[in-house]
Amino acid sequence: MAEAPIEWSQEAVARCVADVVSSRRAVRAFKPEPLRREDVEDILQAAATAPSGANIQPWRVYVVSGAFKNDLANALVAAFRAGTAPVPAHFPEPLPDVFRARLTDFGARYYASLGIDRNDYRARARQTEQNFSFFGAPVGLIISIDRRLKPHSWIDIGLFAQNLMIAAKARGIDTCPQVSFAPFHDLLAAHLHMPPEEVTAFGMAMGYGDPEARVNQTRMPRERVQDFARLFGFPA
Ligand SMILES: Cc1cc2nc3c(=O)[nH]c(=O)nc-3n(C[C@H](O)[C@H](O)[C@H](O)COP(=O)(O)O)c2cc1C
Repeated sequence: MAEAPIEWSQEAVARCVADVVSSRRAVRAFKPEPLRREDVEDILQAAATAPSGANIQPWRVYVVSGAFKNDLANALVAAFRAGTAPVPAHFPEPLPDVFRARLTDFGARYYASLGIDRNDYRARARQTEQNFSFFGAPVGLIISIDRRLKPHSWIDIGLFAQNLMIAAKARGIDTCPQVSFAPFHDLLAAHLHMPPEEVTAFGMAMGYGDPEARVNQTRMPRERVQDFARLFGFPA
């Protein structure tokens, strides 16, 4: 028998969506509890409702778990330790002051939550290494895109990723988007049998977050609307 549709007021829908959106965090410590394949597939199907320019849907996703994920993580950690991947340059140098200030603030909050001295480069490297085991999450994702596409289409995979994280959060499942994988494209392409036209854009850890872990208790601040938006044509 088909389920009866739930009658939600517009206000209830708005609050529910806002709650899910604002409760999403980059989670970096997970419980070992596995994810069900059906849940992962449901989340991916929901993510695929993301808009894309001319509906070209450029996202490609590799989902790893179990022994496969562990083998991949071991290979990535070994490559990271060997220093064979090019040093990632996610931001331009010099980084404009406004962004430098926020990046510095991020680092202060992040390393404080881990009890790491910002000048302790070895401890910081050990933490960076955690990226490559998906921070202990039971499921890892690698999201790639056809390298022939222009930056315009990279917007689409960002929208896909946000949809994915919200669809997961609505099911009580946490995530951490991770650009750290991008420099390891060759290794990933070999393990995941990517076709040559694909390039790794980013990865993502996915699982049930550990709320007790201090790293998961950090809150990253946001600018206020009046600081980043200008509204025109509205009555005063
Ligand atoms: C495109 C992208 C790449 C990111 N890459 C990493 C990463 O490699 N490792 C990591 O720990 N966090 C990564 N993050 C998480 C950000 O640090 C985090 O989203 C930001 O500090 C805001 O915190 P919040 O998501 O908890 O609100 C990434 C986020 C985005 C959107």
